[in-house]
Amino acid sequence: MSEEVLVDLYEYQGRDVFEKHGLPVLAGGVAQTPQEARAIAERLGRVVVKAQVKVGGRGKAGGVKLADNSDEAFERANDILGMDIKGHTVHRVMLAETASIAEEYYFSYLLDRANRTFLCIASVAGGMDIEQVAVESPDKVAKIAIDAVQGVDEAKAREIVTAAQFPAEVADQVVDIAVKLWQTFVAEDATLVEVNPLAKTDAGRVLCLDAKVTLDENAGFRHADHEAMEDKSAVDPLEQAAKAKDLNYVKLDGEVGIIGNGAGLVMSTLDVVAYAGEAFGGVKPANFLDIGGGASAEVMANGLEIVLSDPAVKSVFVNVFGGITACDAVANGIINAFALLESKGETVNKPLVVRLDGNNAEAGRAILDGANNPLVERVDTMDGAAKRAAELAAGK
Ligand SMILES: Nc1ncnc2c1ncn2[C@@H]1O[C@H](COP(=O)(O)OP(=O)(O)OP(=O)(O)O)[C@@H](O)[C@H]1O
Ligand SMILES: [Mg+2]
Repeated sequence: MSEEVLVDLYEYQGRDVFEKHGLPVLAGGVAQTPQEARAIAERLGRVVVKAQVKVGGRGKAGGVKLADNSDEAFERANDILGMDIKGHTVHRVMLAETASIAEEYYFSYLLDRANRTFLCIASVAGGMDIEQVAVESPDKVAKIAIDAVQGVDEAKAREIVTAAQFPAEVADQVVDIAVKLWQTFVAEDATLVEVNPLAKTDAGRVLCLDAKVTLDENAGFRHADHEAMEDKSAVDPLEQAAKAKDLNYVKLDGEVGIIGNGAGLVMSTLDVVAYAGEAFGGVKPANFLDIGGGASAEVMANGLEIVLSDPAVKSVFVNVFGGITACDAVANGIINAFALLESKGETVNKPLVVRLDGNNAEAGRAILDGANNPLVERVDTMDGAAKRAAELAAGK
């Protein structure tokens, strides 16, 4: 099973990627303190100070401000750092040279999943209200399919420029940008490159004033420089630990730890637990964890270790449908996992509800019963087990 891992870059990282591929960007720098912001502005002069968060609408939220000199840059950075923008705390600001903007356009390439192709979206009505334009005047937004093999050469770029009705005086510049941006998209294995605004200055130059880039990290092995751009601090530490152990784990915000084999089964387990939890004050699943086909003791121990180390977890629901790995092997895995964790000095003190079904279910259940572990309860239906796990999480 292939798992999709997408990495959104911060604007300052996207700007660097654009610059590397020869796109016209303005000089800039990134700062984590007002002092650093001041130092950068001393070099750049009049600057725009921009919140670096991985969410759109920064300008409207007050996260993009002009500063005429380095003292003002210090003040604006001081205002913006620490701001909360739609639940994202601003830890960095980017400072960039300012442009005097005459017109704002929109330009992007993205992977169009629904139509299994690549798509260019371009509009001469760009800027902060592009979402509104797309809804209210869809005719002002050109959408052009891009053939993956042919890509965007000069001829294709001209087709885009014509379709989006870019003014004649910027056509050549936009063609050049369209070709380079496509090269960026391909070379970096991106699933999105977006420039909004692509701005025309008073002097008639076209510049990329914002950069939004999403990378496909399944292609990370081709890019030695991409890992450094991943924001480890933004990733949940448990998810990081799970990744290190090759586990398919996603942290959620409930109380019932979930371990299952097979992504489909785990997904439906989440639903069943959320539903059962309603009767117990809204208890919810604490995570998604698929231990896959080979539920060995080691994999089970790794999984339990991750799930149990989440302080929010009050009970764990292990839901296994025996297939290639039969239930007796899974049952042994669970029992041995306890021993493994104890041997590492990690005492297990949260209740487990185990449902085993499928291949060799009877043998598996007998092994659990025989182990007589007071923390392990066996419930043979999925609904029943979900209810019991929710009940335990609610402290009943
Ligand atoms: N270097 C710059 N010089 C002058 N004005 C700028 C510059 N960068 C941005 N702006 C102005 O600020 C506006 C908002 O900037 P930007 O597009 O980067 O943020 P945003 O669109 O609000 O954020 P997001 O793209 O996350 O939704 C732009 O539309 C542009 O008018
Ligand atoms: Mg923008």
